[in-house]
Amino acid sequence: SVQPTKADKFSFGLWTVGWTARDPFGDATRAALDPIEAVHKLNEFGAYGITFHDDDLVPFGSDAQTRDGIIAGFKKALDETGMVVPMVTTNLFTHPVFKDGGFTSNDRGVRRYALRKVLRNMDLAAELGAQTLVLWGGREGAEYDEAKDVQAALDRYAEGLNLLAQYSEDKGYGLRFAIEPKPNEPRGDILLPTAGHAIAFVQELERSELFGINPEVGHEQMSNLNFTQGIAQALWHKKLFHIDLNGQHGPKFDQDLVFGHADLLNAFSLVDLLENGAPGGGPGYDGPRHFDYKPSRTENYEGVWESAKANMRMYLLLKERAAAFRADPEVQAALEASKVLELAKPTLNEGESYQDLLNDKSAFEEYDVDAAGEQGYHFVKLHQLAIDHVLRAR
Ligand code: GCO
Ligand code: MN
Ligand code: MN
Ligand code: MN
Repeated sequence: SVQPTKADKFSFGLWTVGWTARDPFGDATRAALDPIEAVHKLNEFGAYGITFHDDDLVPFGSDAQTRDGIIAGFKKALDETGMVVPMVTTNLFTHPVFKDGGFTSNDRGVRRYALRKVLRNMDLAAELGAQTLVLWGGREGAEYDEAKDVQAALDRYAEGLNLLAQYSEDKGYGLRFAIEPKPNEPRGDILLPTAGHAIAFVQELERSELFGINPEVGHEQMSNLNFTQGIAQALWHKKLFHIDLNGQHGPKFDQDLVFGHADLLNAFSLVDLLENGAPGGGPGYDGPRHFDYKPSRTENYEGVWESAKANMRMYLLLKERAAAFRADPEVQAALEASKVLELAKPTLNEGESYQDLLNDKSAFEEYDVDAAGEQGYHFVKLHQLAIDHVLRAR
């Protein structure tokens, strides 16, 4: 069914439906959204979770009493609806203090302030039962190569993250940390620009098992990368801690469109991978299906709610199409013909050594390279079958 339920684990950022559509060229086109209304609406549509930056919920600079009041009201809405907060993130990009970054600002005082802001937000994350803390370092970067010592910046990034992990463990919060890569915007060049950079970086951290990534569809596509392939690699590293689903038309500004509203075929292969795992079966992803999109600036609130529903509808439609694709005997035959499943078979036999391989004349001396070079892999036919399923032509 394409009717979302809480079992689908759909979640939305408060900053998504709550985006008032101010952009670098124009003013807001929508009035602010009350977070409590967001909880109720998203619950009504079938979402199970809501996420936020500290400042989305409690405006920056609020006094303690205001903050407590807002959090109490938000918790009440969660209780009334059964909505959960699976993830929390920290805004280290809006206030001018962060114009040269948070954890990697050249200014040490800014770095200390950024750490304090995140530590405070971790207390709130734990209080609300979040399992994941996302770190999107949108301002961690530079416009000018001379202006940032990148190796020192990575040292400071690691220093900061190690501290957060230590705090979470000491406090018993049990949080997992997910770095969200993005190549540029708002900085000219952002540190940890792609999933690959971020995965390599987290391996160097003290408690690396607590660190993974939160890749966003559009961010990898801004670098012209194949998102499904990146997700497969993140799963391979066991580093897919969270995911931001949305849509993007290739390398240009960050569009944050509705999921599936841009590269539909890549969205199909993504949902197929998340839901069904590798082509021969295997573990997929069981965390929140989190939408991080922006309702277009042209829309009023009616359009905002339509777009929120559209994200979930796209996901569930693609999930149905992926199930049909997998169940189709012709697809299974095409996978066989394309030797897709043969790749899961180790290249050497069990216990075979390189000496055995060297002794195997059929592998080299007698191997018919011309025949192997002449074979067709039938990948186009397989892809057409996928498209037929996406278009419901099968
Ligand atoms: C973007 C990013 C941000 C982050 C969010 C989480 O579109 O540039 O997705 O929206 O996901 O700030 O910290
Ligand atoms: Mn984005
Ligand atoms: Mn995101
Ligand atoms: Mn976003």
